[in-house]
Amino acid sequence: MKNVLVLFAHPKFEHSKTNKALVDKIQHREGVTFHDLYERYPDFNIDLPKEKELLNTHDVIIWHHPFYWYNCPPLMKQWIDVVLEFNWAYGPKGNALQDKKCLNVITTGGTREVYCSSGNNHYSVNEFLRPFEQTARLCGMEYLPPFTVMGTHNLSKEDLEIHVNQYDQLISALQEDKAFKITKDCDFLNDTPLLKKIKTNER
Ligand SMILES: Cc1cc2nc3c(=O)[nH]c(=O)nc-3n(C[C@H](O)[C@H](O)[C@H](O)COP(=O)(O)O)c2cc1C
Repeated sequence: MKNVLVLFAHPKFEHSKTNKALVDKIQHREGVTFHDLYERYPDFNIDLPKEKELLNTHDVIIWHHPFYWYNCPPLMKQWIDVVLEFNWAYGPKGNALQDKKCLNVITTGGTREVYCSSGNNHYSVNEFLRPFEQTARLCGMEYLPPFTVMGTHNLSKEDLEIHVNQYDQLISALQEDKAFKITKDCDFLNDTPLLKKIKTNER
């Protein structure tokens, strides 16, 4: 079974609805290390050896965060800047993360419809996430399409529950290393047949 590391960054988790529901479902699962960056590093003073040890002992790395100004919250960026060191994560001697899987799990206020060339946000979520994709690639990781919960402002309880169950199922699939062959052409992991069939209260 693959070990999954969920790096989570939410500056206002105490006010969260969507991420709270997602986190509640997966954080205590066996084989999952849930790492709340704002709780652990309120002063932004990241423990580099500790983070490297965590990365060394996990096969799947998830950057889980709400979308803030088309990006991750600042502590997640700080984590990337500090932890992904030259000649450790990348560079001629940097192969610590080689062949690990990596993906973003994000929640957005905007709906899918506004994230396209004719929509208010002009670009797709995948385009906004290019820096994460390329960062993962530079570090030799396999970057998977993102898992997204979009339109959070008007999400019904039922739809949120479907997403929560999909996230839970996604974690299982990552642990079982279902290689996501089918995902190559998918913009979102949500659209893989495996996750699309999930309905409320169904595993
Ligand atoms: C500072 C800030 C910036 C935000 N920027 C974006 C954004 O760029 N795009 C978007 O779709 N939603 C944006 N939102 C909305 C959040 O993504 C949304 O409220 C969050 O994902 C909901 O999850 P939560 O209930 O866990 O907080 C922003 C919210 C805040 C507070």
